[in-house]
Amino acid sequence: MKRVAGLLTISLVALAVQAKEKQTCERTRVAVLGAGMAGVTAAKSLSENGIHDFLLVEYQDRIGGRMHDVSFGSGPDGYPYTVEAGANWVQGTVTGEGPENPIYTLVTHSTRILIFHAADGVLIGQEEQDHNPVCMDVGETDQDNTTYFDDKGPAEYGYAIHEFQEAMHKVNIDAGSLLKDNLQDRSFRAGLRLHGWDPAKDDSYRQTAEWWLFDGEFVYTPSESSEVFTSVAENATFNYFSGENLFVYDQRGFASIIREEAAEFLAENDNRLRLNTQVTGVDYNRDSVTVWTNQGCIEADYAIMTFSLGVLQKNVVDFTPQLPSWKKDAIHSFELGTYTKIFMQFPEPFWDNAQYLIYADPETRGYYPEFQPLDLPGVLEGSGLMIATVVNDQSYRVEAQTYEETQAEVMEVLRSMYGPEIPDPTHLWYKRWTQTPWAYGSYSNWPPSTSLQAHQNLRANVGNLFFAGEATSQEFFGYLQGAYFEGKHVGDFIASCLQGTGNCTVTDEQQNYPVLTGVTPYNLYNDEHGWFVDTVS
Ligand SMILES: Cc1cc2nc3c(=O)[nH]c(=O)nc-3n(C[C@H](O)[C@H](O)[C@H](O)COP(=O)(O)OP(=O)(O)OC[C@H]3O[C@@H](n4cnc5c(N)ncnc54)[C@H](O)[C@@H]3O)c2cc1C
Ligand SMILES: *[C@@H]1O[C@H](CO)[C@@H](O)[C@H](O)[C@H]1NC(C)=O
Ligand SMILES: *[C@@H]1O[C@H](CO)[C@@H](O)[C@H](O)[C@H]1NC(C)=O
Ligand SMILES: *[C@@H]1O[C@H](CO)[C@@H](O)[C@H](O)[C@H]1NC(C)=O
Repeated sequence: MKRVAGLLTISLVALAVQAKEKQTCERTRVAVLGAGMAGVTAAKSLSENGIHDFLLVEYQDRIGGRMHDVSFGSGPDGYPYTVEAGANWVQGTVTGEGPENPIYTLVTHSTRILIFHAADGVLIGQEEQDHNPVCMDVGETDQDNTTYFDDKGPAEYGYAIHEFQEAMHKVNIDAGSLLKDNLQDRSFRAGLRLHGWDPAKDDSYRQTAEWWLFDGEFVYTPSESSEVFTSVAENATFNYFSGENLFVYDQRGFASIIREEAAEFLAENDNRLRLNTQVTGVDYNRDSVTVWTNQGCIEADYAIMTFSLGVLQKNVVDFTPQLPSWKKDAIHSFELGTYTKIFMQFPEPFWDNAQYLIYADPETRGYYPEFQPLDLPGVLEGSGLMIATVVNDQSYRVEAQTYEETQAEVMEVLRSMYGPEIPDPTHLWYKRWTQTPWAYGSYSNWPPSTSLQAHQNLRANVGNLFFAGEATSQEFFGYLQGAYFEGKHVGDFIASCLQGTGNCTVTDEQQNYPVLTGVTPYNLYNDEHGWFVDTVS
């Protein structure tokens, strides 16, 4: 039986190979797969290094990926507002003469308006902005500028926030020792408990404080997150650059920073940008890569895949040969979380003049805990806009509901905060990230007890197929700057290979670890350690 099945598989593969060979593929030197922050940055690096023969292949009809500005509600002239369904903040900017977050650099040098063809998204023109602002419209958000609520109205639990901040600070210091002394990683939860932070399940104030400062940023709970690498991400962004968070509300859309980057190397109607092109298969080896799409095939010397971790986990792309087991292990060992922003427009603002309104639900941790008014003095004044944020489990629940069902829940919470008279929103919308076939989630997270080597395997190339994106960034995973640095790194490397200036005989430029070893040798699994039953043989 087994043998017959085997033969059947072989003949099906043979048929597929025949079908593929019938086509003549388009030739290019580098196929950049995905036109989000990582893909566009990689293509720009190629271009800057004199490699102009590349194709930028994108599933959607637009550039930007998880930077995703959309139209919402109705504005003063009947035009909708632009809001950000995806990335919204520049996280970490610059301190004095120190290193500058490249995303901050892009945001502060935004000068152009680009015009894309409405039907196919092709860039058809660009003009210098007449009033020439050097910076996009941004506002610094301050987590201390918060009003607290519970189901009976305003409440006072600033103490819980301060306790959590102190515990988190101590965990970050411990994490540095674990890292330097090569000690085993643990969950961020373990670290918190060691410092006395262990709120009771029904302590809704402390549970909410924890959600607000942890889950609200990393999307997962402290139990689901690595102590060492969560601290690394926090330090790398907020200590290395700065503690500043800039909220982008520019009506051109945050993704115009990527559109402007693309316009640096793409001419008008540039045929190298392939929108509406869905990658379904990649054949790779040490000399070349063939990319199969719904529009035909592309044969390249190198390819750079920038798809989200979720897309890789869902096996949307058929790899030939199959990815090595170390690569598959890595893809399935890291997590992609979901962050849902529920946009609402109200006839008039009814909220406090505070940047955040935090709600502690008495029963369910993470149940509509965060409201962010956008109609504030000097921001989108007069807009009536507000965002409610939920993550992961609550996101999955909300994604499964209709907008009407979600609105009823949100309004019940807001009325418990502000009284029964407040009006219903005139508009409510959110993006269902988990169900989005070009992302399958929002951004990645590093689970406990997963090593640097395991993560390196997520980054490492297989033959001439390279990987880049927020999830492959060791220190800035989850953030736009992670996608930027990874795209630039791979773009620069491949350019050096093609120019013959680099180290391209070293095929495994990005080291991989075929075997990840544990920390306890097998001979210690003995009586002395209470290991009485041999479960393995
Ligand atoms: C809701 C939300 C909030 C966020 N908030 C912030 C924030 O405030 N600050 C911050 O720094 N970061 C934030 N992020 C993270 C940030 O958006 C990402 O880190 C970054 O945009 C990822 O860029 P990337 O190039 O790695 O991936 P992507 O942007 O996902 O780019 C990959 C591209 O590949 C395309 N693609 C996928 N599958 C295929 C296929 N089969 N064929 C062809 N093309 C395909 C996709 O359409 C996409 O354009 C947020 C993300 C989300 C979703
Ligand atoms: C994070 O920063 C703190 C404060 O500078 C430092 O003590 C700690 O070692 C750092 N932790 C990590 C994991 O880098
Ligand atoms: C809080 O934020 C609001 C809105 O941005 C601002 O008007 C107010 O001055 C801030 N309050 C404090 C104490 O910083
Ligand atoms: C090339 O690779 C070798 C071996 O990994 C390394 O020692 C050398 O420094 C590299 N050279 C350059 C220019 O990167």
